Amino acid sequence: MTPFATRNGALHAEGVPLAEIARRFGTPCYVYSRAALTTAFADYRTALATHGVSDRSLICYAVKANSNLAILNLFARLGAGFDIVSGGELDRVLAAGGEAGKVLFSGVGKRRSEMAQALAAGIRCFNVESESELAALNEVALAHGVRAPISLRVNPDVDAKTHPYISTGLKTAKFGVPIEDAPALYRRAADLPGLAVRGIDCHIGSQLLDPAPAAEAAAKLVQLADRLATDGIAIEHLDVGGGKGIRYRDEAALSATDYLAPLLKVLAGRNEHLLFEPGRSLVGNAGLLLSRVEVLKHGAEKSFAVIDAAMNDLLRPALYDAWHDIVPVQPRQGAAKLYDVVGPICESGDFLGQGRELALAEGDLLAVMSAGAYGMAMSSNYNTRPRVAEVMVDGDRVHLIRRRETTAELYAPESLLP
Ligand code: LLP
Repeated sequence: MTPFATRNGALHAEGVPLAEIARRFGTPCYVYSRAALTTAFADYRTALATHGVSDRSLICYAVKANSNLAILNLFARLGAGFDIVSGGELDRVLAAGGEAGKVLFSGVGKRRSEMAQALAAGIRCFNVESESELAALNEVALAHGVRAPISLRVNPDVDAKTHPYISTGLKTAKFGVPIEDAPALYRRAADLPGLAVRGIDCHIGSQLLDPAPAAEAAAKLVQLADRLATDGIAIEHLDVGGGKGIRYRDEAALSATDYLAPLLKVLAGRNEHLLFEPGRSLVGNAGLLLSRVEVLKHGAEKSFAVIDAAMNDLLRPALYDAWHDIVPVQPRQGAAKLYDVVGPICESGDFLGQGRELALAEGDLLAVMSAGAYGMAMSSNYNTRPRVAEVMVDGDRVHLIRRRETTAELYAPESLLP
């Protein structure tokens, strides 16, 4: 489905012209499509049904990709669980109506207070990433008179073939425990009275386009589960993480059914429950960043379109050199030029796109596409720029799901010297 399409010469979000959203809510503004979010979730559902594993699977949306309450609430209503990496994300999930019993807690540096918070809430499982964390969680659980359900996040040492900053499954990564150490660590976990071994977890990276590495990792989890069974340690679930890539430019991104096919083939005929932690593939293509051209500058070497969105609003181009399509909301006639599309921030890395062929005038609206994942979630207030508004389009209606911040809110926690 195309949530964002041009009709009568104007780019729409579902049934609403983006120009109308800019008028009503101002720019910059993140715009999400409810239908696109719902369809992306349904794509996973279809994949699990096609492979006959629906009744033993749970899709746990990775909150970090986009943690707006309305988005969490939508996924909760669709039956999702959640993958969290902080106590803050747990607060959000619960505030959005998510069920604690469907929450997985990942992350390499959980604080004891966060462990206690998650135990009190009654989450489904902790994905433990080190021996020290096993010991700490054991102590916290005993102090609370409960047993903490755990998986170990194992590092299967497969190459996910993605950007080095978002590749997590290699031996050199800070994540997880080496898979060869896992049997000993599971034995230790099984002996600790505050822990209850439930599963095995892995997550090998993000924006993965080739399904083979995920299947290879799953095969290693299966081997480990069988090995643990011979040690008398029963594994109830296998958590294969997230990572499925999306199309930003011209990538051949697979449907969830096709992406998961090799992985589910590896897991066929087994009894474990299957947990998935998709983030980007549920929200990435369901959102765009709407922005207005402030200034056109024509230098000797280059032309710049300075827009009102910047690296603090969407960091991915600056941080990973990531590509996002940038399209005019109301395409105009006239000669196109090559522009670097940049923000007003005082950093040379403050660009949303470089060398883009566009016909522009000052005041034009631009849509930075595929910005639903790791967009708003990674935004900051750098240069004392209030975080932008977020709206969700649903057919012909537009809901404001986060109002624009005010500058006074930004410095409200600060104090003058006495
Ligand atoms: N599970 C764990 C343990 C993770 O660390 C992540 C993402 C996910 C699930 C979800 O992965 P996804 O399905 O979204 O690929 N900021 C980067 C991406 C960082 C991914 C971090 N971990 C970007 O903008 O590309």
